[in-house]
Amino acid sequence: MKINDRLIVPLDVEKFNEAESIVNELEENITTYKVGLQLYTREGQRVIKMLKKYEKKIFLDLKFHDIPNTVVGAVKSALELGIDMLTIHAMGGFDMMEGVAKLLWQRRNDGKHSPTVFAVTLLTSLDSAFLMDVIGTTNRSVEDEVVILAGAAQSAGINGVVAAPQEIKSIRKKYGKELLILTPGIRPAGSDKNDQQRIATPFSAIKDGADYIVVGRPILQSENKIKTVKNILKEMRDGLKNS
Ligand code: C5P
Repeated sequence: MKINDRLIVPLDVEKFNEAESIVNELEENITTYKVGLQLYTREGQRVIKMLKKYEKKIFLDLKFHDIPNTVVGAVKSALELGIDMLTIHAMGGFDMMEGVAKLLWQRRNDGKHSPTVFAVTLLTSLDSAFLMDVIGTTNRSVEDEVVILAGAAQSAGINGVVAAPQEIKSIRKKYGKELLILTPGIRPAGSDKNDQQRIATPFSAIKDGADYIVVGRPILQSENKIKTVKNILKEMRDGLKNS
């Protein structure tokens, strides 16, 4: 995989025109964009069409979470869009994840384009109080829970997981190289943390074993976006050499 393909920029903007101007500005330096709930809910498929026009890869981050039949239906609809990556919630359960995995195996067997699916383990906004008060789990840490959910995703046949920087190593160690890891909360050395609490540099996330990193504000709010991207790619290359 080329190093640029490991760096994903989220189009965390409200409107279509803002999204298109980011894609224009970053030119060939960025190959993959993440489209999330805010932009997709407002602008819908025209964003996907725009990214296709620019020959970009598309990560549709809508974090599907519902009964298996409904999520499999949603993934079928997403397949029609010709996207490359998508997210579901591991908390949706084994049957839900397995239903999605089976649909994609079938597509692959039929020789059709099949996106890579990532399961969100535990949202980073949730903590041990959530595990205790809402789920009723008293004997597991957040990290243990994340590792268990990642294992469930892998057993269900899902390609990868979304994990916070500090969880990369334990997931890698336990489940090997087969399970892909995609990590947000990345901040190049010296940049603003914004609202991210637990962060890592591009170097350390890749060194620890992340396959993909998502970097938003450090690039999007930068005065010289292309220079920032080039520095991040350099850090990532160094991380790969040290992994
Ligand atoms: O601007 P920043 O680099 O913080 O953006 C990170 C992106 O990754 C945002 O789109 C955010 O929603 C997403 N994300 C995250 N933390 C998670 C899951 C997703 O920051 N745990």
